[in-house]
Amino acid sequence: MTKALPNIAVLGATGVVGREILNILEENKVQYNSIKFLASARSAGSTIEFKGEKHTVIEATPEVFKDINICLASAGGETSKKFAPIAAQYGCVFIDNSSAFRMDPEVPLVIAGVNDEDLRKHKGIIANPNCSTSQLMLPLKALDEKYKVKKMIVSTYQAVSGAGLKAINELTDNIKTNLVGMPYEPSAFKYEIAFNVIPQIDMFCDNGYTKEEMKVTNETRKILHFDENVKISCTAVRVPVYIGHSEAVSVEFENEVDPNEARELLKNTWGVEVRDEISDFVYPTPKDAAGKNPVYVGRIRKSIAFDNGLEFFCVADNLRIGAALNTVRIAEKVIEMELY
Ligand SMILES: NC(=O)c1ccc[n+]([C@@H]2O[C@H](COP(=O)([O-])OP(=O)(O)OC[C@H]3O[C@@H](n4cnc5c(N)ncnc54)[C@H](OP(=O)(O)O)[C@@H]3O)[C@@H](O)[C@H]2O)c1
Repeated sequence: MTKALPNIAVLGATGVVGREILNILEENKVQYNSIKFLASARSAGSTIEFKGEKHTVIEATPEVFKDINICLASAGGETSKKFAPIAAQYGCVFIDNSSAFRMDPEVPLVIAGVNDEDLRKHKGIIANPNCSTSQLMLPLKALDEKYKVKKMIVSTYQAVSGAGLKAINELTDNIKTNLVGMPYEPSAFKYEIAFNVIPQIDMFCDNGYTKEEMKVTNETRKILHFDENVKISCTAVRVPVYIGHSEAVSVEFENEVDPNEARELLKNTWGVEVRDEISDFVYPTPKDAAGKNPVYVGRIRKSIAFDNGLEFFCVADNLRIGAALNTVRIAEKVIEMELY
């Protein structure tokens, strides 16, 4: 007998990621019994439009989770730390976009289509990976299955939307101010982001890497079940792009890799779209990726720095695959696998 459709809730429904989750729930025609729109007391009572109808936003309180089966949460780490354990106690599956539980060994960290079987181990909380890790997992899993990853170096070019609405507005204001030759005092970023790049995302760790960079190392290992012998290093850079993270990736494999074969493999990988015709100047850019679901891969070539090495450029909409899309896909898997 199939399970009854779940009661679902979107926590952080009024935020940048929450609104994208609502768009994708509608686009993907996700089936549910009922839906609630949760935010803080600030937005409670306001209305939100979903599927052409207006709905009232409800304040998130512990009691709200009593009759919710699946919660898609993007309301910040502190809110998740407060509500996820309570929701789990009530039997709700809490799919979390924040970094609060990602490295908790009891919490599966999942990219739908990559490590779905890890979902079976959930104890009420499931974590969605960081955006720069997320987009890399679909192509990397396919390449790893064939050639076995030994070492990887990633350089990111990350859009301002990854830092929320305030950062999006700061890029616009900063550009306008620069164009009329006025001074600008940044607040979302340490330095001016207009006509600039900033080699710092999140705080610095003791080893000189930033937290964002270490997320790529640690989360990749957890999702793909790599051991400590697989070496991964990342430099994360903020660039003046609104939507779409780009990554230059160099990978060394255990096995010999042929770029033409790798290109064909990626062409046949679910969730990945290859854009790689250099004779026609075809390669992915963030402007093309914004608002779309695939992870775009191009500039595939044999590395001249590594033995058995491959270089590629990978671009995706950070608000989609890096956050909202994967959250919805996880919810769809939880429903399909009847894990609620
Ligand atoms: N932006 C990205 O690309 C991205 C990517 C991956 C993950 N994330 C993560 O997703 C989360 C949200 O990011 P965002 O960019 O969407 O932020 P945002 O636009 O600032 O939205 C935050 C949302 O959380 C709600 N909220 C805040 N405090 C709350 C509380 N105490 N109780 C209930 N709801 C509360 C807000 O509701 P009110 O309207 O009531 O304030 C709002 O709906 C963060 O954890 C972020 O790290 C973001």
